[in-house]
Amino acid sequence: MSSRNNTHLLEVSRLNVEYLTKKGTVKALRDVTFKLDSGTALGIVGESGCGKSTLAFSIIRCIQPPGFITSGSIFFDGVDLLQLSENKMRKMRGKNISLIPQDPMTSLNPVMRVGEHFMEMIGNHEPHLDKAERKKRALDILEKLGIPSERFKDYPHQFSGGMRQRVMIGLALLLNPKLVIADEPTTSLDALVEAQILELIQKLTKELSLTLILITHNIGVVAEICNRVIVMYAGQIVEEANTLQLFDKPLHPYTEALLASVPNPIEEIKKLNWIPGSPPNLLNLPKGCSFYLRCRYAFDKCRTTEPELINLEERRVRCFLYERGE
Ligand SMILES: Nc1ncnc2c1ncn2[C@@H]1O[C@H](COP(=O)(O)OP(=O)(O)O)[C@@H](O)[C@H]1O
Ligand code: SF4
Ligand SMILES: [Mg+2]
Repeated sequence: MSSRNNTHLLEVSRLNVEYLTKKGTVKALRDVTFKLDSGTALGIVGESGCGKSTLAFSIIRCIQPPGFITSGSIFFDGVDLLQLSENKMRKMRGKNISLIPQDPMTSLNPVMRVGEHFMEMIGNHEPHLDKAERKKRALDILEKLGIPSERFKDYPHQFSGGMRQRVMIGLALLLNPKLVIADEPTTSLDALVEAQILELIQKLTKELSLTLILITHNIGVVAEICNRVIVMYAGQIVEEANTLQLFDKPLHPYTEALLASVPNPIEEIKKLNWIPGSPPNLLNLPKGCSFYLRCRYAFDKCRTTEPELINLEERRVRCFLYERGE
């Protein structure tokens, strides 16, 4: 097993993931590199199809064919996850790294009571605990989530969408993992429930001193919860900064456009100007900068040459405008 002394909880290096489809190879992640320290709440934002879920599933090593991790490494707590046996990786999931999925219904077993999901998960990872101890542990977490204990015997379909997502959060936090990845956890919920769920994630992250990766297409959400942000575009990281810096002064033209498209309740409809054009086809990527066709600052070089991710002071950006660190 490959391991090393490491001050970062997670270290993803030059990760490439492809889906081999009938139409050709979809380059879903291209050289994705980032580090995450314990206690950080990292937001990963970008439009649909930019590779956010692929990244989440790669970290827990759940990419299924036709998807393949073609190169790169993922060190978690000093251990290279891509070198672990499937058995060891299974023990890692839930206990060390857990995922809150986008759609709770597809992750819950419809014929199992909600309480049984909790009991089974504790049983799988901590078989030495007897039934009473397992139940106590499960009820403790239900209480934290605001789910009344009498609902322990209900089936998933008897829960509302928001309550089902609370169950998923509970299952994700049950074994006190070091890292929780939430993949668009509120997409299927209405605005009021979305706010409650985000508040709950924020509260529990602080209370349990978790390290969080929050994936969302809504950059407004990360402002509330995350202290660092990665912006993705067409399978690449195009900007990384701390949240205050990013909102105060977005560097990449795509980040700037994303921030301009956040609905503003005061100016209402006027601010709902979505970015014109669409991302490139990942089956057939153009030469040059992936954002070229939508960028209002584009110049000749951007059409022919691909920009590297440039390290600036405490932030990174992939754009020729910052080549000399200006
Ligand atoms: N199972 C799959 N087969 C083929 N292509 C896929 C598959 N899953 C994802 N993709 C493609 O990979 C790219 C990234 O997808 P995804 O990671 O789901 O993006 P996001 O979560 O940001 O919406 C998209 O172009 C998507 O169409
Ligand atoms: S490299 Fe060029 S096209 Fe790409 S974001 Fe920067 S200015 Fe725009
Ligand atoms: Mg997704």
